[in-house]
Amino acid sequence: MKDSGGVNPGKDGVPDRPRRVTILGSTGSIGQSTVDLLLRNRDSFTVEALTANRNAALLAEQARQLDARFAAVADPADYPVLKDALFGSGIEVGCGRAALVEAAERPADWVMAGIVGAAGLEPTLAAVRTGKIVAFANKEVLVCAGGLFMREIAAHGATLLPVDSEHNAIWQCFDFKRVDGIEKVVLTCSGGPFRERSLTEMRDATPTQAVAHPTWRMGAKISVDSATLFNKGLELIEAHYLFQLPAEQVDIVIHPQSIIHGMVVYCDGSVLAHLGSPDMRTPIAYALGWPGRTRAPTKRLDLAEIGRLTFEAPDPQRFPALRLAREALDRSGGPTVLNAANETAVHAFLEGRIGFLDIAATVERTLERMPEVTLDSLEEVYNLDKAAREIAGELIAARGGARAAAAGG
Ligand SMILES: NC(=O)c1ccc[n+]([C@@H]2O[C@H](COP(=O)([O-])OP(=O)(O)OC[C@H]3O[C@@H](n4cnc5c(N)ncnc54)[C@H](OP(=O)(O)O)[C@@H]3O)[C@@H](O)[C@H]2O)c1
Repeated sequence: MKDSGGVNPGKDGVPDRPRRVTILGSTGSIGQSTVDLLLRNRDSFTVEALTANRNAALLAEQARQLDARFAAVADPADYPVLKDALFGSGIEVGCGRAALVEAAERPADWVMAGIVGAAGLEPTLAAVRTGKIVAFANKEVLVCAGGLFMREIAAHGATLLPVDSEHNAIWQCFDFKRVDGIEKVVLTCSGGPFRERSLTEMRDATPTQAVAHPTWRMGAKISVDSATLFNKGLELIEAHYLFQLPAEQVDIVIHPQSIIHGMVVYCDGSVLAHLGSPDMRTPIAYALGWPGRTRAPTKRLDLAEIGRLTFEAPDPQRFPALRLAREALDRSGGPTVLNAANETAVHAFLEGRIGFLDIAATVERTLERMPEVTLDSLEEVYNLDKAAREIAGELIAARGGARAAAAGG
């Protein structure tokens, strides 16, 4: 590991009291898995703050169950529901972006960054700037503001623990003290629901088909990303920043069973791999207990029952996302543009405004149309993100119009 920040290989000492935890995005898939682990390990953790976007009812239920001190919704329209649901509980409530930042800044040892999309940037940065341990699931934050984000981590002495299953796996196999011996890391990829589909079949894919992931249960956005393989493209960029490796040292292999999550290849030919059932509670539990371990009720691996583990190379024709991610990394500001265009296109696809193959096409055209930009401040990141969303939006409107005309004709 170079000294410019990154994953902290091992700060000594878990506090000798229950670890105080905050979850940004507690109502999502990652958030609910984290809550599940906290409920199963009540003596080891206390909860400071929980946040959601709009799901005030579930947030209030979680806050009561976990005896949290503060709960906040991002959308002010949902504040009255939260307030009513927590009336008389003694739990403080808040709403809006400032309340999310407050949740991230309140005294806690450990914060789960579990919001989806670049919307997580501001609160996650707030947690980083108070020097906390940040368990990091919200990959879009790193893709959108990678260099800056890593510099903030180093500047504030924060610790980033990878939660994405592939990065968590690599982290567990990565010899941070002898990085010279590392040749490359390998991220595995299930291939998603369309691994064996033709381009014609993919063109007609519906949102329901795209979110039906074969091995993982996740939120809608990451499920679509898994179907396009943009999820793996985002993870490639994430690995580049987390492990401070050039993109050429990050390989992707399709592994449909999702049993091996990540590998580290050493210069003597040794390959260290991390295996486990496809259940996010395993990587979350590792981050929760780090540097110790936390019990998780996940299905234990039975390799004899599984029988066969298979691997194949990704098909660049049907899945251009990996090429686009590598190209984006070669351009200053490219990852920010890629992420913004992808988020905008996935949203449009889920709303039925564009087809499945239009997602990658929108990202590619947006990358072509945006100039290279050096990002030295957060403001510049936000400006670039906004400009890329506008261009992607224009492209989507044009594609959506053409699609409607074709359907009408
Ligand atoms: N799910 C997985 O297995 C998995 C695995 C690896 C990495 N990740 C990454 O983890 C992150 C979360 O994924 P997920 O699957 O848990 O997503 P999800 O189920 O959609 O949940 C997202 C969470 O963020 C909140 N949120 C959404 N938009 C927000 C906004 N504008 N401002 C504030 N909060 C907002 C949601 O609140 P509401 O519930 O109120 O909408 C919810 O709590 C993503 O970056 C994803 O790529 C997920």
